[in-house]
Amino acid sequence: MLETPHDTRHWFNPVPKDRQRCFSASSQQGIHITLAGQSLINFASNDYLGLRNHPQIKKAAITSIQKDGMGSGASRLISGDHPQLHQLEQELAAWKGYESCLIVGSGMLANIGLIQALADRHTHTFSDKLNHASLVDGVRLSGAKSHRFNHRNYNQLSISLQKHSAQKRIIVSDGVFSMDGDCADVTKLLSLAETHNTLLLLDDAHGIGCMGDNHRGLTSSVAGHERLIEVGTFGKAFGGYGAFILGTSELIEALKQRLRTMIYSTALPAAMPAAMLAALKLIKAGDLQEKLQQNLNLFRNQATKLNLLPSTTAIQALVMGDDSKALDASKKLRDTGFFVPAIRPPTVPEGTSRLRITLSAAHSSEHIERLTSALKELS
Ligand SMILES: Cc1ncc(COP(=O)(O)O)c(C=O)c1O
Repeated sequence: MLETPHDTRHWFNPVPKDRQRCFSASSQQGIHITLAGQSLINFASNDYLGLRNHPQIKKAAITSIQKDGMGSGASRLISGDHPQLHQLEQELAAWKGYESCLIVGSGMLANIGLIQALADRHTHTFSDKLNHASLVDGVRLSGAKSHRFNHRNYNQLSISLQKHSAQKRIIVSDGVFSMDGDCADVTKLLSLAETHNTLLLLDDAHGIGCMGDNHRGLTSSVAGHERLIEVGTFGKAFGGYGAFILGTSELIEALKQRLRTMIYSTALPAAMPAAMLAALKLIKAGDLQEKLQQNLNLFRNQATKLNLLPSTTAIQALVMGDDSKALDASKKLRDTGFFVPAIRPPTVPEGTSRLRITLSAAHSSEHIERLTSALKELS
């Protein structure tokens, strides 16, 4: 095609054909997903407890929509606030063991806004190299001086903290790492934060609701610590959408004035906190986590011969190496009735393309057994 004065293709760096991502418009029925007319068992959702489709959650949302309508209509600081948001914030803070909580539109918005609110060009941040993109972008947009340490290499972090002194410093880490499924050592990170007088920002999007004491996530033994700021999301174990930030009352009050991604963004519809209050009740009950753990044990026991990354979480990664191997394996699984996507760079480091398998309480033992057999057939 000839370039015209209105041709905008040159504004974008083209993504090579073999690295392009594609949307796959789908419908989901419980644990099944329909893609291009084919019904598959879904091993690619972060709905770890199967709450996305739970009748009590749907009922709470529908009742709220009937009363309050769909959208919130404005930012929380204009007219979009709702008592259910406050109730959920109070219940989350009490359950997690923090003084205060603030609900935000999504995990991406929470992390980007939070780091920008906390850090400026005089701040130094110290980030795990495998942190989620929202933390990476938050650091970049804040203008802070960024130092990165190799994944879970806390000796390297300690040396870096000794080397780079500044008045304001923040250690930034995922809790459960979203693509590997392994966990940060939160006690170690917090002890480094204390020794070096820094804050610790921990995003436990994949841990809260599934891991730790009473399923309160990886920080359950240290929650409420004055140096710890935690982010959780509703899009995973809670089966909804949105996010929350936990910390001291002082921090949360400051964020109400400074968190641009909350101040200048439409509030979540009231139906979301209504549904998430119902989700929190089910999470506290603990039955679904037991089922998830059984599924996880079954999967790990059946998959001993597979080259899985070490993980005790619902995220199980089978590293294939180059892109074509991962894509090929994903296609073969699809032909046998399973949806397990190939995850490729830049989401994961070069040469570590993988199948990312996510387990849910909604899977049956038979689903797990059939998947592990199919995985063994791949090699
Ligand atoms: C660790 C982590 N943090 C944040 C997010 C973003 O959350 P949200 O989907 O609510 O924007 C994700 C993924 O979605 C994630 O894996």
